[in-house]
Amino acid sequence: MRPGIQRHQALAQYRRRAPVYDLELLAFEPWRHACVQRLALRPGDAVLDLGCGTGLSFDLLQRRIGPAGRIVGIEQSAEMLARARHRVQAEGWRNVELIHAPVEEAAWAGRADAALFVFTHDILQQPSALRRVIGMLRQGARVASVGLTWGPPWALPVNAFVWAAASHSLLQIDALDRPWQRLADAGVDLDIDCGPLGGIYLAHGRVA
Ligand SMILES: C[S@@+](CC[C@H](N)C(=O)[O-])C[C@H]1O[C@@H](n2cnc3c(N)ncnc32)[C@H](O)[C@@H]1O
Repeated sequence: MRPGIQRHQALAQYRRRAPVYDLELLAFEPWRHACVQRLALRPGDAVLDLGCGTGLSFDLLQRRIGPAGRIVGIEQSAEMLARARHRVQAEGWRNVELIHAPVEEAAWAGRADAALFVFTHDILQQPSALRRVIGMLRQGARVASVGLTWGPPWALPVNAFVWAAASHSLLQIDALDRPWQRLADAGVDLDIDCGPLGGIYLAHGRVA
């Protein structure tokens, strides 16, 4: 049987993890920073945060886009989104729109300048979700993604970490050799950086 979890299990898992999610992700903050930096955002940009979770990337995005910019966070877990909403209210941000929906069903009328995928492997593996995202982006929009990927076969501790992290949290773990491939197939010209040991990749590029 292919490892990985079912969608209802993913929703149940994020219901449980929502209160501690920000703490769990603390060690990965440098990767989030690197990913947001690769979006090369400018003041006034509109950016989609796909699977935005608790809104951990919002502050980094705000610092770049400023009050004239716009964040559209799309998230299917009510509990994760509730935390994002609380963050937005606590910060008094008026330029954040939160959409409670699976990305593959989400609708947003505008055309964004950028799209961010931070640890959202399951979204990246769904062509229907990626078609939606591309439909919400202007031509030439920037896209950046960070996530898990296998290391080289000899990097056993790295691969053990990837296996452990992926098999308890992802719907699909069978594309971890090239998790960015469907994004490229959807029409994004990507540069990939996996580092020598793999484990985590950074991908960024533009909608062709
Ligand atoms: C590992 S968390 C990443 C959260 C956030 N991007 C971050 O910055 O840490 C993955 C998130 O994607 C959400 N997610 C997974 N599949 C989704 C889908 N099809 N549509 C919307 N959200 C989804 C999950 O509910 C979860 O909040």
